[in-house]
Formats: sequence, structure tokens, C-alpha cells
Amino acid sequence: MTRTMKPASADRSADATVDVALTVNGETVRRTVSVRMLLSDFLRHELGLTGTHVGCEHGVCGCCTVLIDGKPGRACLTLAAQANGYSIRTIESVAAADGTLHPVQQAFKECHGLQCGYCTPGMVMNIVGRFEEPQALDLSDDGIRELLSGNLCRCTGYLNIIAAVRRAAELLGRT
Ligand code: FES
Ligand code: FES
Repeated sequence: MTRTMKPASADRSADATVDVALTVNGETVRRTVSVRMLLSDFLRHELGLTGTHVGCEHGVCGCCTVLIDGKPGRACLTLAAQANGYSIRTIESVAAADGTLHPVQQAFKECHGLQCGYCTPGMVMNIVGRFEEPQALDLSDDGIRELLSGNLCRCTGYLNIIAAVRRAAELLGRT
């Protein structure tokens, strides 16, 4: 008797889906998505918010950092389903509606804190989130390096980013 093997996918049903409702940059959004969809893909592909970058896609580089209920978090390690009911902020929400840069963005501009810019949205969201926490930040070199330790940059050598964090603290009155 000859037996033929089924292709691996033959018995697999289509991905299960789930309804999600979350707030993104102040607006409620509702979608039906795959249970496996990452928050980073949800933001980029479902909502067109491509300012959230994806580098490693496994939690190492920090490019995909967004604020999840005000705390910096990795959009590539979060499922869209897990974000159900949460408030997400992305880089698109940071500058004012009239285009005025947020002080953290302004500081990056003044201090030349970016080159290719790929890491920058994640850097900015991490720093914005940390400055929005009430406790004082350690603005020593070591303290800023610790603050940035979850965000990798392949271009700048970090010195200008460290300067930008200090300048942001000045602009925000957090020195
Ligand atoms: S893309 Fe999320 S940490 Fe690298
Ligand atoms: S500016 Fe290029 S990776 Fe940071």
C-alpha cells in the first residue's frame, strides 16, 4: 500500500482571529486581527503608523519602542491581542499638531543625536516615557547610558544621544 504524506499545512486551519479595541495616539481603534499579529505589525500595517520601526523583531534593539499605558515597551514582543484595552503612543503623537517638535525631538536635532535615524523613534519614545515618570532621572553619563541601554544605535556612537538627553532635561526643566 502506498501512503502519501499530506503537506504540513493541510490540516492547519487559518489563523484564529480576535477583536481588539485599543487607544492609539488618543483615538480608539477597533480591528479583527490574527491572534498572532504583533503590535508592531498592527501599528505599521493595520494603522499605517510606520514611524514605529522594526529592527531585530525579537526584543533586542529597541527600535520598536512605544508607550504602553505610559511605559516604554517593545511593540515586537507584544501581541496586538495583548494590547487590547491599552493606550498606545507612537512617535507620530510626539510633536505638536502644528509641527512644533517635542523637547526630546528638539534636543536630538540640536545635538545631532541621529544619523540614519532608524533607531531614533524608539530612542525618543523611551526617553519621552522616562521623562514623563515623576521620579528624577540620573543624568550622569552612567545614568543616561543605563537609561539608553535598551536602545541600540549602529551609527552615532551614542555621545550625541547622551548630550541630547541632557539637553532634553534642560528644555523640560528636569535638571
Ligand atoms: S524590533 Fe523590537 S526590539 Fe528590535
Ligand atoms: S542613527 Fe542610525 S541606528 Fe541610530
